[in-house]
Amino acid sequence: MMKFSYSNTTQIFFGEGQIAQLSRCLPEDKKVLLLYGGGSIKKNGVYEQVAQALEGRQWGEFSGIEPNPQYDTLMRAVEKIKQEGFDYLLAVGGGSVADGAKFIAAAACFTGEDPWQILTQGATVHQALPLGCILTLPATGSETNTNSVVNRGHEKRGFSSSKVRPEFAILDPATTLSLPLHYSINGVVDAYVHVMEQYLTYPVNAKVQDRFAEGLLLTLIEEGPKLLTTPDDLEVRANIMWAATQALNGLLGVGVPQDWATHMIGHELTGLYGVDHARSLSMVLPALMDYCRQDKRAKLLQYAERVWQLREGSEEERIQSAIRLTADFFHRLGAPIHLSEVDLGAEAIDAVIEQLEAHQMFPLGEQGKLGAEEVRALLKRAL
Ligand code: NZQ
Ligand code: ZN
Repeated sequence: MMKFSYSNTTQIFFGEGQIAQLSRCLPEDKKVLLLYGGGSIKKNGVYEQVAQALEGRQWGEFSGIEPNPQYDTLMRAVEKIKQEGFDYLLAVGGGSVADGAKFIAAAACFTGEDPWQILTQGATVHQALPLGCILTLPATGSETNTNSVVNRGHEKRGFSSSKVRPEFAILDPATTLSLPLHYSINGVVDAYVHVMEQYLTYPVNAKVQDRFAEGLLLTLIEEGPKLLTTPDDLEVRANIMWAATQALNGLLGVGVPQDWATHMIGHELTGLYGVDHARSLSMVLPALMDYCRQDKRAKLLQYAERVWQLREGSEEERIQSAIRLTADFFHRLGAPIHLSEVDLGAEAIDAVIEQLEAHQMFPLGEQGKLGAEEVRALLKRAL
C-alpha cells in the first residue's frame, strides 16, 4: 500500500425524511442561495420540503443549472451572488447542480483575472463560499467530494479543491423515486466505473481498499438490475445511493494507484456529442479492460474471481469472461457498450483524440502508457 493522508469532512444525513435536518445544518446568520436545475425538485416535493426548512431565514434561489452545467449559466449565479450578497450555497439536485454550486462557490471568491482559469489553468482556489447539498440523483459522489466538472461549448473541464467540499450532504433515498429509469441507471453505471478506476490497476497489497471496492461492485451488480423490476423499492434506492456516495468520496482511492482514463476519454465524448456522462463510460470501460488486459492482468484475475466468481478455465478465459460480464451488466441495464449504439463511428475517435491532445491529457492510465495511438486502438474496440 502506498502512503496517504485522508480526510472527508462532509457531515452526512442519510435516510427518509432527513431534509428536515436542513435547518440544523445551516448557520443562522447566513443568507442562503438555493441552487437547482430544470425543475424536477418542484415536481417531486423536494422544493416544498426545502422551502419549509428554510422558513424564517434570509434566502433566495437560482434555477436552470443544466445537466453538464454550463459555465455561462453558473457565472449568472455568481453575478446574482455579488449583487444580492448571498454567503451560503445550497445545491439541491444531481451531480450537475452540486458541481455547478462548487464552481459558483469558487468563482464568487476568485480574485484572479477570469474564473475560467480555475478550470483550464489549475488556478488555485484560495477561498470559496461555504456550501451544502441535498442529493436527488446518486451517481457522481459530488455530494461529499472535492471535484467539479463544468462545460463551456465542447469543453468539459474539471477542478478539485478542498475549499468546495460540501459542509453537509442530505441523502434521502425517497427523493430518487421520481428519477426516470434512464437517469437511475446512469447513476449505477457511473458509480460502478468510479470504483473500477480506483481498483482495476495493479496490486499494491491494499486489502481493505480492494475488498471495499469489491463489496461496492457486488452491491451495484445485485441492486442495479432491481431498478428495472422494482423501481419503487426504497431499500434498493437506499443501497444504490449509499454505494454511489462511497464510490467517489475519496476513501477507496487512498494508498492505491488510480486509472481515470475511462473518465478522461468519456468526458471528451460528452463534450463533443452530448452523450450522457455514464453512457460515455459504459462504452469506454469494456474496451479499455480489453486493451489493457496485460497491464491489468493480476487485478483482472482478482476481479474475475471475487466479483464474478470465475474460478474455472485458463487465465485468459477468466479475463475474457470478466470483461464480457461487465459489458453485459451495462447492456442489461440499458447502457450502450458500442459507439454505434449512440450513432457514432470512427470519426468520433479522431475527434476525441484531438480534444485529449488539446487538453494535454496524454499520457493516460495508471502507468502513463496510454498515448494517442494507444487510445485510438482502444477506442476501435468500442466501435
Ligand atoms: O435539472 P433537473 O430538473 O433537476 O433534472 C435532472 C437532470 O435533468 C434530473 N434529476 C435529478 N434528480 C432527479 C431528477 N429527475 C427526477 N427526479 C429526481 N430526483 O436528472 C437529470 C440529470 O442530472 P445530472 O445532475 O446531470 O446527473 P448526474 O448526477 O449524473 O451528474 C452528471 C454530471 O456530473 C459530472 C458529470 O461530468 C456531469 O456533468 N461528474 C461529476 C463528478 C464529481 N463531481 O466528482 C464525477 C463524475 O465522474 C462526473 O464527471
Ligand atoms: Zn463519473
